[in-house]
Amino acid sequence: APAGPLAGRHVLITSGPTHEPIDPVRYIANRSSGKQGHAIAAAAARAGAQVTLVSGPVNLPDPQGVAVRHVETAREMLAAVEAALPADAAIFAAAVADWRTASEADEKMKKDGKAIPALALAENPDILATVAHLSNRRPRLVVGFAAETQDVVAYAQAKRARKGCDWIVANDVSRRSGIEGGVMGGDENAVHLITAEGVEHWPRASKADVAGRLVARVAAALGPMEAAS
Ligand code: C5P
Repeated sequence: APAGPLAGRHVLITSGPTHEPIDPVRYIANRSSGKQGHAIAAAAARAGAQVTLVSGPVNLPDPQGVAVRHVETAREMLAAVEAALPADAAIFAAAVADWRTASEADEKMKKDGKAIPALALAENPDILATVAHLSNRRPRLVVGFAAETQDVVAYAQAKRARKGCDWIVANDVSRRSGIEGGVMGGDENAVHLITAEGVEHWPRASKADVAGRLVARVAAALGPMEAAS
């Protein structure tokens, strides 16, 4: 049996962007690299957890010792998350597209030199809020992320309440963050951990170190495994 502070625990993690198709060759996406979510999955596996990583399209290898479910759209991500339950802890690091196209064209849209197509959008499901509000099978610890460019802590506290999650890991993705090249796609992160008890400002660190620290906190929050009776 695996050893480590998360041995015997199932940890569910989302990572990466989602792709929302417009037609067979075009999609709506965002700049998420998946680096932070994948680093958390790797750290949780090293801590002995059984890990399910639901990943959108990324240019990263599957982390070692992790069961990876590859998805494209937000709706596929929600379905894969629901299929992976129950879990002891769920960490939602994916940058899920807020909107998808209201309909997907079956054939490639043609440029006919006349009308410019308008994209009608529809709202995607909020995976974090859906899981945090489950009455049955809600993971004991539900963690969301918040990327903000201003009033980071205040917005993140409001987001924690609105989403119904236990913790929010908030980061400043503005250029003011001082992180060279920016947080999105970069290798460093400076985050604030927002819990029911208050706010912790974590020092700027590599995404791997942020992942290790978060996983240690998750293990501490879940506590030791109950002895089998
Ligand atoms: O509302 P916002 O997108 O800023 O919230 C970010 C948090 O919510 C992240 O943890 C993200 O993974 C999660 N989220 C989600 N499903 C969505 C939108 C966001 O799980 N449709």
